[in-house]
Amino acid sequence: MKLKGFFVVAAAASFMFAVSQNSFAGDNGPGYKLIKANGCLACHSVDQNKIGPSYKLVAETNKKEYGKGAIKEIERAIEKGSKGKYKKYGIAAVMPPYGYLGKQKIEIIAKWIMSLAK
Ligand code: HEC
Repeated sequence: MKLKGFFVVAAAASFMFAVSQNSFAGDNGPGYKLIKANGCLACHSVDQNKIGPSYKLVAETNKKEYGKGAIKEIERAIEKGSKGKYKKYGIAAVMPPYGYLGKQKIEIIAKWIMSLAK
């Protein structure tokens, strides 16, 4: 019995690993590490809308709206927070301000998010 339980756990673990590998492919840069370390993933994921919009949607929305200015716009949103921008995707929550991270970290995060735009 014990052995069987172990295999179930091992199979589940390797499945989870495959899933996370897939959805976070190549995301080992400093930007993603900061996102992980600062609790952003409680509300965001890379490619699925949760409480907040997916980072892919953020990248594409801002690229469409602001072109080359998109990184600055994302930096501003992380620093000061944001609300209402993703209403049409059914997102009603508010993005809290993260100014305490400081400009340098915010810039690294913003660049990483924009690297997800097509
Ligand atoms: C409590 C939940 C929550 C947490 C934690 C959170 N966010 Fe958000 N975030 C949101 C919501 C909700 C929105 C959508 C706001 C809107 O509609 O304008 C958002 C939007 C954003 C946007 C898009 C802003 C824009 O103008 O396009 C960025 C970028 C972002 N978050 C980055 C981050 C980063 C980086 C962190 C961690 C440091 C973080 N978020 C943590 C909920 C959260």
